[in-house]
Amino acid sequence: GALKDKIRRLLKEKNAVMVSHYYVHPDLQDLAEETGGIVSDSLEMARFGRDHAAQTLIVSGVRFMGETAKILSPEKTVLMPDLDATCSLDLGCPEDEFSAFCDQHPDRTVVVYANTSAAVKARSDWLVTSSCALDIVSALKAKGHKILWAPDRHLGGYIQQQTGADMLFWNGACIVHDEFKALELEQLKQEHPGAKILVHPESPAEVVALADAVGSTSAILKAAQELDATEFIVATDKGMMHKLRTLNPGKTFYEAPTAGNSATCKSCAHCPWMAMNGLAGVAHVLETGANAVHVDPAIIPRARQPIDRMLAFTA
Ligand code: MLT
Repeated sequence: GALKDKIRRLLKEKNAVMVSHYYVHPDLQDLAEETGGIVSDSLEMARFGRDHAAQTLIVSGVRFMGETAKILSPEKTVLMPDLDATCSLDLGCPEDEFSAFCDQHPDRTVVVYANTSAAVKARSDWLVTSSCALDIVSALKAKGHKILWAPDRHLGGYIQQQTGADMLFWNGACIVHDEFKALELEQLKQEHPGAKILVHPESPAEVVALADAVGSTSAILKAAQELDATEFIVATDKGMMHKLRTLNPGKTFYEAPTAGNSATCKSCAHCPWMAMNGLAGVAHVLETGANAVHVDPAIIPRARQPIDRMLAFTA
């Protein structure tokens, strides 16, 4: 439509490129890819933003993703459709309390999830996303590190179970993944006995225990392409369904049940902050330069260290 044409034109005029997360509206995912940007997870969004020649980055996702882009490219302009798009994991891990927790455990290596503020990143040793957390924690364990993990306790618990690492947890959760329910998932599986269950490790352990494949958005995409099945039940944000269905036209994807299921809302697994991103917002920020992400320059060099480590580890 007209709005998409306007965005295409403005991206060129302003020497801008757009990166979208798998959890945002399909329109924003398709437009990012079609105009030379990407749709991906937070790790690859960060890497792409750092490496791309464009001087302006449009980040369709949530606040920490824009902040990470700005930390990696302070000289670039980073714009977001809505700066109020936050994250429950970020909100649940305020820097002052987190620093106090770290101070109590100076013997532990601090590993934090990408879904955190710049200030929390600046207090950490390593950054991870769900796609590299297992490998990074395994490598740290092999070197004898004891770990302080924040903020997602479900992802942390899963990694501890897989690696046997000595991990101390911050008590955070993602409001979307925390709502998946094991009993209802088993019932849905009975209706579709041939379906394979794909689960994001931010989900509760009882739900992870029912999975045929557990992993990040990129791992879920891979499993859907590689597992020998034509039906899948997917426990992650339903924004993910767009890519899954586009890449696998012959396969059927069902949304895993959440606590809030009802006649009107079959699965309520959609992040309300991801949902704040829209075409109108993208057009508006491109046109006006509004919603520039700001990160305190004083903390950028320290916040960058754990991000650089992660990017180097996964390069
Ligand atoms: C991310 O890094 O984007 C989130 O952890 C979601 C994921 O990719 O699994």
